[in-house]
Amino acid sequence: MPDDQLLPSALLDRLGALLGPRGLLTDPADLEPHLADWRALYRGRTPCVVRPGSVEDLAAAVRLCAAAGAPLVPQGGNTSMVGGATPDEGGRQVVVSLARLNRVRDIDALDMTMTAEAGLVLKAAQDAAAGVGCLFPLSLGAEGTATIGGVLSTNAGGNTTVRYGNARDLMLGLEVVLPDGQVWNGLRRLRKDNTGYALRHLFVGAEGTLGFITAAVLRLFPRPRESEVAFCGVRDEDAALSLFRRFRDRDEGAVRAFEYMSGAGVGFYAKHIEGGSVPLPGHAHYVLVDLASSRPDAGLRALLEAVLEEAMEAGEVLDAAIGESEAQRAALWRIREEHPEAQKREGASVKNDVSVPVSRTPELIRRSSEACARLIPGIRPVPFGHLGDGNIHMNLEQPIGMDAAAFLARSHDIMDTVNDVVRDLGGSFSAEHGIGRLKTDMMADWRGGAELDLMQRIKRAVDPQGLMNPGKVLPG
Ligand code: FAD
Ligand code: MLT
Ligand code: ZN
Repeated sequence: MPDDQLLPSALLDRLGALLGPRGLLTDPADLEPHLADWRALYRGRTPCVVRPGSVEDLAAAVRLCAAAGAPLVPQGGNTSMVGGATPDEGGRQVVVSLARLNRVRDIDALDMTMTAEAGLVLKAAQDAAAGVGCLFPLSLGAEGTATIGGVLSTNAGGNTTVRYGNARDLMLGLEVVLPDGQVWNGLRRLRKDNTGYALRHLFVGAEGTLGFITAAVLRLFPRPRESEVAFCGVRDEDAALSLFRRFRDRDEGAVRAFEYMSGAGVGFYAKHIEGGSVPLPGHAHYVLVDLASSRPDAGLRALLEAVLEEAMEAGEVLDAAIGESEAQRAALWRIREEHPEAQKREGASVKNDVSVPVSRTPELIRRSSEACARLIPGIRPVPFGHLGDGNIHMNLEQPIGMDAAAFLARSHDIMDTVNDVVRDLGGSFSAEHGIGRLKTDMMADWRGGAELDLMQRIKRAVDPQGLMNPGKVLPG
């Protein structure tokens, strides 16, 4: 029976009795790491952090909270770029950390599947796959902290989408605790399963607004036996795109990642990251290309050198450094992976995680950089990211000497300016980070009409009390 009279203290007592001291945090020092987002855009309050050690405990805790009408905020590694895992300032939203649900339940190198719990850190999932001679290919800068539940809930992309797809494409089945505390076990490891609505896909990309992902069946791939990485200075944005096309046309399957960086971003890396040396300084545009094959005799070095030579003759590639060992390849990757951290250390920045058709990426970079310079003279564009997917992080750094707060007060003007270009190019205002709290006010404009109406009806059907991650994804 719903207990509308349940006071927060009574709820806390019941949760404490259910979960024990490891499963319920109330000490302010313990709550602290759960209250703010990675970008420090938001800082909320919560009465407690629930940390269940089993799916049954999570389901029971959700039932208690549902009976008390307590809103719930799922949290994985708390690396969201859009404030998705942060409670609001009201002090009623209960943070639910999945960190203790972090087991690999099953791994099968013949089926090429892994059943992993939501709190498993992405890097640990990659390592578990490698342990049985396979690859779990999802890879992003936050992989040492982000969790399987978080990457699925945001449908994360990252560096290897160009070859393996987004998180959604790497998932075969799910286990979910629904907002009323029911457990749905959809952990089927089937490659084919057409049995009505594909419910598992509802929860991927829902950003915790429809329920808790507790475990997932993930697809594995053969491990690469040969790989090559090159870091190239290129003439301009068109040359970067042309280089991508050259590789794709020669051997599409060989390209594991194709990342663009600007001279500004590479400069921030050299300035702010310990040991951040850059092999080819002084270029305005860079590309990192990563080739991989599960064949030991794939001839990737020959392919790499042939394409680079061709592109150099065409004046597109100006210089290139090829990683000669695993350590060198990792060092080249570090230049790209540390971009978010280097940009953070440089000062205040506004992020635009946008996508356009791949063919329009040069235009996106040029036009939005020019438009932002007209809006705020001295603003420093730092575009980088997944050019092979048409997903450029069209980030803007504050002008040198400008007050950080004054710059951030213009965030929405800057985002609108970039988004005008994105719209004109047929793109999306959110490519891979999701909507979270940051972009809810853009939903009506970009996804209004039947699309948003359908989303709101799904939300009401699955979560009629509106308790799952309120204030995220859908406009209020
Ligand atoms: P959290 O931040 O904890 O949560 C993210 C969202 O998912 C929230 O809405 C939360 O409520 C919900 N959620 C979390 N766990 C669950 C669950 N078990 N069930 C239901 N809902 C849940 N993202 C990319 O896509 N590509 C990148 O290249 C990329 N690079 C990044 C680099 C850095 C340095 C950082 C800090 C972030 C980057 N991100 C990137 C963003 C972020 O890492 C990813 O979105 C990641 O998917 C979030 O995982 P998490 O476990 O930290 O989730
Ligand atoms: C990345 O690809 O590094 C992140 O998604 C982008 C960002 O920090 O803006
Ligand atoms: Zn990214």
